[in-house]
Order: sequence, then structure tokens, then C-alpha cells
Amino acid sequence: MKNIVILISGRGSNMQAIVNTAIPNAKVVAVLSNNPNAAGLAWAAEHGIATAALNHKDFANRMDFDRAMMQLIDEYAPDLVVLAGFMRILTPEFCAHYENRCINIHPSLLPSFTGLHTHQRALDEGCRISGCTIHFVTEVLDNGAIIAQGVVPILDNDTADDIATRVLKVEHQLLPQAVADFISGNLKIVGKRVIKSNQVDDSVTLLA
Ligand code: GAR
Repeated sequence: MKNIVILISGRGSNMQAIVNTAIPNAKVVAVLSNNPNAAGLAWAAEHGIATAALNHKDFANRMDFDRAMMQLIDEYAPDLVVLAGFMRILTPEFCAHYENRCINIHPSLLPSFTGLHTHQRALDEGCRISGCTIHFVTEVLDNGAIIAQGVVPILDNDTADDIATRVLKVEHQLLPQAVADFISGNLKIVGKRVIKSNQVDDSVTLLA
């Protein structure tokens, strides 16, 4: 059995998608947050999962927070750390500690639109598609090897919220699948590419 620790900052719908998928040989052993009021913490606790929050505002600097968070995470001996809407920039030390065993979901088609306000920026640029990316975490923000990407159309009357809603549905499919692929050892990192031993032709999925 492989241990998964999930980090959230808010609602936690992606965390819920992972828990609800019941991935073989995997157990979500803890859901942790930098935000004591994150709604997802209550949901996880109701589902019998250990939860804890470390408020980043209680720490003097980013390094102190990351070190405390690393200590907390490591109490659960994770095989995989999933950043599922964890809205903190991580220090190089944190990223190195979880190298090749920490993944993030980001609401854009990377390498376009790293950082925040991704859907509004896609709209402002006149993009006809948007989507989400799941990638390994490295010390460069939103830049690690890409595991999976999902695509949605941007329609003429869309607002950023409309796009976010459409993308979120794809996130809920893609993230549990990426976690399952990691857990079953299907992902191999070769430079910036992720090679999948169970690769299928998912061109239809990409256009859906
Ligand atoms: C998701 O859309 C995720 O892609 C995004 O936050 C949302 C969290 O929703 N992540 C980032 O922006 C990371 N930079 P959730 O709390 O309902 O899973």
C-alpha cells in the first residue's frame, strides 16, 4: 500500500476526486493545509482522513513554513505528495526533498500561463482553448515534467468563471488518473518528458 498526502488551500474538490476514486494500492493518509479554514479539511475529516493545518501567517518566512510543513508531511511517510489547489510557492529545499514524488495540478495548458488568474489571461489573449496540466514539482514554478493535460474549448461568451468550471470537470478526471499512474509505477521521468508504460492514444479525450 502506498501513502498519499494531499495539500490543499481551499475547497478541495480535486482532493475529493482522488479520495472518491479509491485508487488501488493507495491510501490517502492525510490532507494538510496552509489555511485552517480550508473547506476541504472538514470534508476529509468527515471521511475519516487525518487532517492538520499550519497557518503560513504564523511563520516568519517561507523557509520556516516549508520546513514545518515538511516535518508534518513526513510524519505520514508519503510515497506521493499531491498539491491539489495548494496556493503556496514552495522553496527549493521543499521541492528537492520531494523530488520525483510530488505532483501539482495547474489550471492552464502549461507552459502557457504559469501562476495566477490563468483563465482570465487565456481569455484576454483570445485563446480558443484552455485546460489543465498535471506535472511533477520542481523549484521552478509550474515547470516540471508534464504527466497529463486536459483541454476544453473557450466559447465566445465565456467568463473566466465559465472556463474555470469547465476545466475543473476535466481536472477531476485527470488528477485521479495521474495519481493512479504514479502509484502503479507507470510514470518514468526522462528529462522534461514523462514516459508512460500504459500509454493509450488519447486524442479523442483531448478533443472532448
Ligand atoms: C484548481 O482549479 C486547481 O487547478 C487550482 O486551484 C483549484 C483548486 O480547486 N490550482 C492552482 O491554481 C495552483 N496554482 P479545488 O480546491 O476545488 O481542488
